[in-house]
Amino acid sequence: MRYRLEVNGTLRDLDVPRGTTLLEALRDDLGLVAARYGCGRGQCGACFVLADGRAVTSCLMSVEQAAAHRIVTVEGLASGGELAAIQSAFVEEDAMQCGYCTSGMLISAAALLAEQPSPTDDEIRDALAPNLCRCGVQLRAIRAVKRAAEQL
Ligand code: FES
Ligand code: FES
Repeated sequence: MRYRLEVNGTLRDLDVPRGTTLLEALRDDLGLVAARYGCGRGQCGACFVLADGRAVTSCLMSVEQAAAHRIVTVEGLASGGELAAIQSAFVEEDAMQCGYCTSGMLISAAALLAEQPSPTDDEIRDALAPNLCRCGVQLRAIRAVKRAAEQL
């Protein structure tokens, strides 16, 4: 089946079997590997991308469904060779260890800051709650979101 997706501001044509997930298409067909496969069941947040500004599980969204939305991956957060404020803040706060969860956290944080530029600690915690981290960087991630909010 042929599909046309808007990904990171560019229209991309795909020829994939019906039922292909957005995560599979991003990684295997479009070479965008920031979104990661964790659980494949909507329970870990590793595969999050933005769909019309909302953080969604790309492991559960089909390419067909994705075609109705503007998709943004972590690769699309930076612009003009400059990291987005939330990306810089994660680096400055060392808010990662193995990094497996980091893309998903960045997407959740980006969605939050777009909707609420000055979030409370509780709002940040709630926004990052779907993103499981086995390395325990949640407190640093919360600090990073606060740092980015201050810079914005
Ligand atoms: S891989 Fe999608 S939520 Fe875990
Ligand atoms: S930094 Fe390793 S899973 Fe979060």
